[in-house]
Amino acid sequence: MADKKRTLTGDRPTGRLHIGHYFGSLQNRVKMQEDDSLERFVMIADVQALTDNFNNPQKVRDNVYQVLLDYLSVGIDPEKTTIFLQSMIPELAELIVYYSNLVTIARLERNPTVKTEIAQKKELFGESVTYGFIGYPVSQASDITAFEGELVPVGEDQLPLIEQCREIVRKFNSIYGETLKEPKAVLSSNKRIKGLDGNDKMGKSLGNAIYLSDSEEEITKKVMGALTDPGRIKKDDLGNPDICMVAYYHNLFTKPEDVKKICEECRAGARGCVACKRELAKNIIEELRPIKEKRKYYEERPELLEKILKEGTEKARKIAKETMKKVKEAMKLNYFE
Ligand code: TRP
Ligand code: SF4
Repeated sequence: MADKKRTLTGDRPTGRLHIGHYFGSLQNRVKMQEDDSLERFVMIADVQALTDNFNNPQKVRDNVYQVLLDYLSVGIDPEKTTIFLQSMIPELAELIVYYSNLVTIARLERNPTVKTEIAQKKELFGESVTYGFIGYPVSQASDITAFEGELVPVGEDQLPLIEQCREIVRKFNSIYGETLKEPKAVLSSNKRIKGLDGNDKMGKSLGNAIYLSDSEEEITKKVMGALTDPGRIKKDDLGNPDICMVAYYHNLFTKPEDVKKICEECRAGARGCVACKRELAKNIIEELRPIKEKRKYYEERPELLEKILKEGTEKARKIAKETMKKVKEAMKLNYFE
């Protein structure tokens, strides 16, 4: 047990997860469950979600359960992966207070991920960003170090957060003595999935996503609205699947030999876009069917959901408490014991 490497990942529960997450982080987390050298933790980051949704607590609360359902439905197995809730680990908040002395405001302002996000959230923050939001890298450093997460599988956009965490760890250890473990980011090899509209990113705010929980009708409707080769008007116009999002998604959901045929027919003007989209919708529905069935199983058992989250959180909290004890000792704050 002791020599197992801990991995920590997580999501802000601000919406349901979509097929971009599925091909990215989710499949990766399921695959990691086969690796016996790892001890896995997945955190539902509701405290972090509040940093940009402090005015909408109901949204965060609802999505805690949606994200939990997403996890379970794709096969994240609570026997193999500890799923826990950030807000129920008070040690995480406590660590933030101590770490906040080890990071300057200028350094936070330079964090490229935070910078980009602030620019996107002008409407929420206006001219001046909150203390909580600008400080969320400190919160993320507390998440990672509380569990001595050695490996943090992330997408590229999260790298500056891991780097900032490493700096905090080094600073802490140099002042208070060797206490915290420096994490390593593991860049997931999975590529980012484009949106139905051709946008580089699939996202809830962009309205171009297919959610794991979408109904068959919703999936079909979204696929029918996907961007195709705009040069094709009539069925016998020669098409270019390289600039068609339907062809792009066929690559993800359709058997390779069928994809080859689809592209050939498209180029030859021997394939109608409507039929092509219908086939894609059918294949997506087929792929998501077992996931949807599993979701339904858990949806019908709210007490089981509660139990999974509660037990996972209890297990995670034990570890956070141990780290807290070490931190307080190192900082000479170990009173009354
Ligand atoms: N920042 C991540 C996101 O935006 C969520 C997250 C919070 C996280 N704490 C973490 C990820 C710790 C990895 C490790 O979804
Ligand atoms: Fe895209 Fe299919 Fe139409 Fe070709 S036939 S443009 S691949 S939808």
